[in-house]
Amino acid sequence: MENLTGKFAFVTGSTDGVGRMVASQLARAGAEVVVHGRDADRGRQVVAEIEADGGQARFIAADLSDTGQVRALAQSVLQRTQRLDLLVNNAGIGSGGPDGKRQTNAAGQELRFAVNYLAGFVLTSELLPMLKASAPARIVNVSSAGQQEIDFGDVMLTRGYSGGRAYMQSKLAQILFTFDLAQRLQGTGVTVNCLHPASYMATTMVREAGVTPWSTVEQGAQAILNLATSPTLEGRSGLYFDGLRESRANAQAYDPAARAKLRALSLDLAGMSAKPD
Ligand SMILES: NC(=O)c1ccc[n+]([C@@H]2O[C@H](COP(=O)([O-])OP(=O)(O)OC[C@H]3O[C@@H](n4cnc5c(N)ncnc54)[C@H](OP(=O)(O)O)[C@@H]3O)[C@@H](O)[C@H]2O)c1
Repeated sequence: MENLTGKFAFVTGSTDGVGRMVASQLARAGAEVVVHGRDADRGRQVVAEIEADGGQARFIAADLSDTGQVRALAQSVLQRTQRLDLLVNNAGIGSGGPDGKRQTNAAGQELRFAVNYLAGFVLTSELLPMLKASAPARIVNVSSAGQQEIDFGDVMLTRGYSGGRAYMQSKLAQILFTFDLAQRLQGTGVTVNCLHPASYMATTMVREAGVTPWSTVEQGAQAILNLATSPTLEGRSGLYFDGLRESRANAQAYDPAARAKLRALSLDLAGMSAKPD
């Protein structure tokens, strides 16, 4: 990997799974890293491991199901640094297995939509001024090959719920957001891309779904780090990758009307006026 000395990176969901490995490898390459998750003990452990390896990191706890905590997280990041070169929106929850029941956050929003998509939308929006001021800077949204069309008539999935559907809808929402934001960031020096890291990596999410892993965490981390740091992607934005290969996402992601609808809905749900751009 490139030497990242002097760079500042923020990886959500880096107390576990692929995010943890990405944070460690960014720190090993010289970046100062913000580690994030809900579990403070695990957060401190990841920071200690990075420091023992000669890197620099700090931990910030926040539950992304709560928009207030998402905003506070962004403020904490802004207070701790003068620059932000890389934001990786990686935190997420899986399908919850075949018997998963519909869950909501305190605001009544369907939980996977709120955590996997809306939190990243709000966080990115709050951090955009610093990313722009640090340009060239990159945003990487960790999505999935599991994608399902957003049903704008019932985004909160009050009918016909399944955990798989909720997960896949939230993952496609991240891709629509990526493509929409890439257009809005043209000329700013901030790029935004998204990816399916690898299929069924050996992580907590996959174990909890009762699936036997197919891929290693290393494979997924390599794919994320490719979008995050590869010189070959300098200036390239609005892309979807399947692992290390540029690929096509679900057709809805290429529909400008659907993207505009999602943007308007997200602004409304987050109580925002006209961000992010
Ligand atoms: N695993 C796969 O095969 C696979 C395939 C395709 C895409 N992905 C995507 O890759 C990303 C990482 O997945 P993973 O498999 O590495 O998952 P994981 O091992 O379960 O780790 C998830 C991370 O997200 C954090 N997180 C979960 N809910 C949160 C919440 N409400 N607020 C704040 N942080 C939260 C967890 O931290 P705490 O527990 O400390 O809160 C943890 O650090 C996800 O976006 C996932 O959709 C994974």
